[in-house]
Amino acid sequence: MLNVVVFGSGRGSNFKAVLDAILDGSIPLARISLVISNNASAGILDIARSHTIPALHISQKQFETETAFVAALLETLRSHGTDLVVLAGYMKRLPPPVVHAYRNRIINIHPALLPRFGGHGMYGLHVHAAVLAAQETVSGATVHLVDEEYDRGPTLLQRTVPVLPDDTPETLAARVLLVEHRLLPEAVRLFSEGRVDINGNVMHIRSLQE
Ligand code: GRF
Repeated sequence: MLNVVVFGSGRGSNFKAVLDAILDGSIPLARISLVISNNASAGILDIARSHTIPALHISQKQFETETAFVAALLETLRSHGTDLVVLAGYMKRLPPPVVHAYRNRIINIHPALLPRFGGHGMYGLHVHAAVLAAQETVSGATVHLVDEEYDRGPTLLQRTVPVLPDDTPETLAARVLLVEHRLLPEAVRLFSEGRVDINGNVMHIRSLQE
């Protein structure tokens, strides 16, 4: 059984998509053992609690030092038997010691076709506004491995959506979100079935069913 810990800062729709896939039996080999948010009032915590999944508000602001914050995060991840960390709308960068401790076992969902339209400041509607400003005809979502920089690690899964002439950032975001809700559960399923080979930073997906 793959123990999954989810980090999020907002409403939690991507987390809910993974949870729904687990509950409907699509990902039999994974369970969500904890949800963490840096935002005490985040919707993602409410979703977790309503499904009796442990939910913790952990923020760097609660600690005197980054070292104490890192120690608390690492102990929390260890005590929950973490096999895979999923960032689902988490607006903070994981501290490097956490990335090192879980190297190649942390994934993030990003609402664009990385490596473009990613990095610091590229979140929420800013991403889609940038895609429209660049007059792209295609956008989409990416699940990637997390390293020490925002949105930079190796891509695991990507799926495209059309950009329509009358799109606004909101209409494009809504179209991309539907794809995110399919891609993230698919990535968790791949990990749970041991179908993600990792040699260093190279990702080999043995046989991805579309
Ligand atoms: C999603 O668009 C995700 O791609 C981005 O932040 C948003 C989170 O939305 N990282 P939700 O909280 O999962 O609904």
